Amino acid sequence: MKINFTYLPGDGIGPEIGSAALLVLGAAAQKFGHSLDIEKHLIGGIAIDEVGTPLPVETLASAKKTKAILLGAVGGPKWDHLKGVDRPELGGLLPLRKTLQLYANVRPAKPYAALLDASPIKPEYLEGVDFVIMRELTGGIYFGNKGRDNLGAYDECRYSDAEVRRIAVRAFDLARTRRGKVTSVDKSNVLETSRLWREVVNDVAKDYPDVELEHTLVDAMAMHMLSRGKDFDVILTENMFGDILTDEAAMLCGSMGVIPSASLGAGKLGLFEPIHGSAPDIAGQGLANPIAMILSAAWMLRSSFDLEEEASTIELAVETALNANQCTSDIGGTLSTHEVGDMIASYVGS
Ligand code: NAD
Ligand code: IPM
Ligand code: MN
Repeated sequence: MKINFTYLPGDGIGPEIGSAALLVLGAAAQKFGHSLDIEKHLIGGIAIDEVGTPLPVETLASAKKTKAILLGAVGGPKWDHLKGVDRPELGGLLPLRKTLQLYANVRPAKPYAALLDASPIKPEYLEGVDFVIMRELTGGIYFGNKGRDNLGAYDECRYSDAEVRRIAVRAFDLARTRRGKVTSVDKSNVLETSRLWREVVNDVAKDYPDVELEHTLVDAMAMHMLSRGKDFDVILTENMFGDILTDEAAMLCGSMGVIPSASLGAGKLGLFEPIHGSAPDIAGQGLANPIAMILSAAWMLRSSFDLEEEASTIELAVETALNANQCTSDIGGTLSTHEVGDMIASYVGS
């Protein structure tokens, strides 16, 4: 089949990890008799530099008509002086997610056996960890009114009943396919949006008597994730809490560079991207770990194109490389970004 997708490498390490992922996708396409039809477009800082806006109309048009989007990362120090929607994040990535209504951001955390030593957390706290964070992605404080006035600055946090309901339904549906437990994370001892969150989640839970539900406050959750991560199955939370907790979860797995994500909406369209950013501190040096991007590409094949065998072949190839310590320095290896991509592509092809 023709695998047609929109490719948005973006900034910093985005193009480096993107090239490695395309190498792996190419190997999978060749092995299984598919062809890649890649529409490459600008987003973020590079788009500001080249055409003066972080989300060019051509990029959005391509994203609106495609089945899948593979994205590297946006942002970096070069554009940090910019304000509001002139920024790569607020004017590029966030409106892409919002316009396409990709409200469900799924971020898994399951440490690889080969990476137990790469994590700063002791191995006994990592064994058995296997959870997924279901992060609400198109609401909350990210999208409320923000600004400055004579008193200072403000960011409004809003959630509608419907926004909470649809992400909660997704979390419960996912839990049914896993170990049947949802941990909803909020700050309902302080925030009114969290009180609504808890009410709606309790209401949705009535339709899932087979799924266990618990509520946890976000500050305690930051601790529980490290001290008893194996107790969690599906962690359901709002946009900003999910952003923070997923970076923490990445460290259970050894590095930001190994966690992929899918952002999904009501239809088949998905946006697939690593959870990490553009890593300006290591950009351009061949140090970036491409695994999160490669796993995002595999997820794209499975979710948007129903190519299950192709996806699992890539995932197995990643594991083979990790077991042989063929990886970048963030997880204890000596290979470059490109070498890791090459190695994983060769395992896919073999
Ligand atoms: P970051 O995720 O880019 O980097 C955090 C740390 O993790 C850095 O030390 C970095 O070197 C390391 N790291 C990240 N990805 C790695 C990889 N693949 N391999 C090895 N190490 C990796 O976060 P930051 O430094 O806070 O942000 C940098 C820029 O990225 C900011 O402009 C931010 O807005 C942007 N950002 C974008 C996205 C996105 O596009 N989805 C996500 C997060 C941050
Ligand atoms: C992420 C990033 C983004 C977010 C930024 C770049 C807007 O941190 O995808 O985790 O906060 O959603
Ligand atoms: Mn983040």
